[in-house]
Amino acid sequence: MELEHGPPQRRSNDGLHRRLSDLPAEPSPNGKPRRRDYDGWLDRWVATVSDLTRLKNTHPMMDAVIDEQAGRKIRIGDHWLTDWASCNYLGFDLDQEIIDSVPEYLAQWGTHPSWSRLLGNPRMYPEIEQQLTELVGSEDSLVLPTITHIHMSVIPVLVGDGTIFLDGRAHKTIYDGAMVAAGHGANVVRFRHNDHEHLDELLRASDPGSPRLIAMDGVNSMTGNAPDLEEFSRIAGDHGALLYVDDAHGFGVVGERSTDELCGYGTRGNGIMRHLGVSYDNTVLVAGFSKSYSSLLAFVALPTRLKDALKVLAPPYLYSGPSPVASLATTLAGLEVNRTRGDQYRANLWRMTHRLLDALHEMGIRTPNTSGFPIVEVPLLDHEEIDEVGRYLFEHGQYATMAAYPLVPKHEVGFRIQVTAANTDEEIDDLIAVLGSLHDHFLLEQGADALASTGLA
Ligand SMILES: Cc1ncc(COP(=O)(O)O)c(C=O)c1O
Repeated sequence: MELEHGPPQRRSNDGLHRRLSDLPAEPSPNGKPRRRDYDGWLDRWVATVSDLTRLKNTHPMMDAVIDEQAGRKIRIGDHWLTDWASCNYLGFDLDQEIIDSVPEYLAQWGTHPSWSRLLGNPRMYPEIEQQLTELVGSEDSLVLPTITHIHMSVIPVLVGDGTIFLDGRAHKTIYDGAMVAAGHGANVVRFRHNDHEHLDELLRASDPGSPRLIAMDGVNSMTGNAPDLEEFSRIAGDHGALLYVDDAHGFGVVGERSTDELCGYGTRGNGIMRHLGVSYDNTVLVAGFSKSYSSLLAFVALPTRLKDALKVLAPPYLYSGPSPVASLATTLAGLEVNRTRGDQYRANLWRMTHRLLDALHEMGIRTPNTSGFPIVEVPLLDHEEIDEVGRYLFEHGQYATMAAYPLVPKHEVGFRIQVTAANTDEEIDDLIAVLGSLHDHFLLEQGADALASTGLA
């Protein structure tokens, strides 16, 4: 079967990029040709994402091998570029105090004691959970390697054979967690993205006698904006439902408000619930250290009774290997740096992000970001131009995330820039200049929405 746009151009690793059905048939041990039914089946699957496959196989800004890194500059072959695709918002990946903390822990614990958490927990685990609980202000917390592990294992426990009310644009990993729950007998109902009135209607029509879980994102990974969580929490409370919020991006950047805060992100970076002043009464908050804290670890902020239940019900606690010791070490060191210097990093991040947003505004380039969060997406008027726009950015030294179809719907295709505290003002200047010339060459959406809508401005 042909792929939608013909076989992809090959860039390297030729054999890997060939269609499976092009491969010569291998003889089986008994000399008869092997049945290779999976070839056509796999090609059909790949064809459903043919735009993405083509970009992956041909575009320098996808599936790239990074040869070298210096600060937020990266080298790919002969090209040095500024990295705007990293989610290391606080720049902790490059913080010397955090890097220096690792060898001592490795000397003490080795690289990876591979007990599942139920079998044994290096002391770092209770230390992290205790500090984290204090930071986010929840009753308790439980850490597991990734948010994906958490969605796959915690959502099915929370909903049982009840109903999940899933935001229509929930992150794919939340959706997948809901599908695992569906496999265990849960019912999945979708409400329109961020539409609490639609959710309210659906809840009214549902069975109040069975568990009901509302699952959605906190700070959105594409727009940088947050939903009205106060309203969603209120609706959850009114219906006796539980709100489940994935704040992968907000945690570490936004936090509780204070009269002496240095910037509009608030202080302490303790997440969107604290930032918006919404209580945890009807809510389970999920977030991770893999973005702002540059460490492979994630957490659920939850009541102790639920934590105890998950210790015997959530498969990653019972069976999965743990995070590497280096990640537990950088989490602990990161929590310390967050206490001592985090607000200064956030103030710098805020300042650089606002320089970029102000420049887009002045140039009349639209971004959906109305919050001031350091995720700045620039949508294209013509989704077919994504390939060329990406090449233009690459050739002008800017490495961004391409939001291509089907990662996003066609009308939202564009590129995404993430600012981190490890970027410099000079890099922001260069980026603004390149975006100005890009605007002269390609069709970008016009106009700028005012900063204001979610309380981060
Ligand atoms: C909103 C959201 N949730 C979950 C994830 C996955 O996180 P993890 O890598 O910890 O599984 C991501 C990763 O980009 C994300 O953006």
